[in-house]
Parts: sequence; C-alpha cells; structure tokens
Amino acid sequence: MKYLILLGPVLLGLVAGCAFAQDDKAAAARQEEQRSCSPCHSLRLVDSQRLSQAAWDKELTKMIGWGAVVSNRQLLLDYLSQQYGVCVPRTADPLSANGAKSHGSGR
Ligand code: HEC
Repeated sequence: MKYLILLGPVLLGLVAGCAFAQDDKAAAARQEEQRSCSPCHSLRLVDSQRLSQAAWDKELTKMIGWGAVVSNRQLLLDYLSQQYGVCVPRTADPLSANGAKSHGSGR
C-alpha cells in the first residue's frame, strides 16, 4: 500500500514532465550546483529538499545574500525546481542509515 502511495507522484511526475532531461544541460547545472552550493554545506542539505520553483527562487536569493556565488542562476533554478521539486518523491538517504531501514517520511 505504501508503495502505491509513493508510486503515484512518480507516475504523475512523468506525465507532467517533471523529470529534468538528462542531457548536457543537467550536467552543467549539476556542476553549477556543486560549485555554488557546496562550499558551505553538503549538497545533501540541498538535494533532500522538495520545493516549488518560487521557494527555490527565494532559497537562492537567501543563499546569495549569505555569500553564495552563482554564475548561472536561471540554469540552477530550473535544475533545482525540476530535480528537487514538489512533484519529485523523496528518496531514502543512504548516508543517514544507521543500520535501520528507513521508515515514515522516507527522509
Ligand atoms: C556562504 C555559505 C553558503 C553557500 C555558498 C550556500 N549556502 Fe545554503 N545554507 C547556508 C547556511 C549557513 C545554511 C543553514 C545551515 C544549517 O541550517 O545547518 C544553509 C542552508 C541551506 C538550505 C536548507 C534550508 C535553509 O534555508 O536553511 C538549503 C536548501 C540551501 N542552503 C540551499 C543552498 C543552495 C541551493 C546553494 C547554492 C546556490 C547554497 N545553499 C549555498 C550557507 C550557504
């Protein structure tokens, strides 16, 4: 039953075209994320979020205000809001596993 609940957003996501095309643009965006966002904290902090485009926009403004250097903001915003948007299901974080299986929210 839980799997059905998890599968719903995946299917919807595919239909709605939520997935970011795995092409050069995605690779460039990933590089941009690495360069701009990893000096201060792990990218896990970024990649574990599920935010709308407007929320990512605010998040970028906040991080830039704190000193993040972003050279291609639009590319990064598109990438974050599609790759880590509200329509993308959360995945279990392998690094936070303490020997126990992930339950509940799946974070
Ligand atoms: C100048 C340092 C710095 C840079 C560069 C930076 N951040 Fe952050 N970020 C922070 C700090 C400080 C926090 C709060 C950390 C905490 O709560 O442990 C944070 C937290 C976050 C959070 C968690 C939610 C929140 O608002 O507290 C997200 C999401 C995030 N950053 C995204 C990004 C993204 C995306 C980038 C790249 C564009 C980025 N950050 C670059 C300093 C930075």
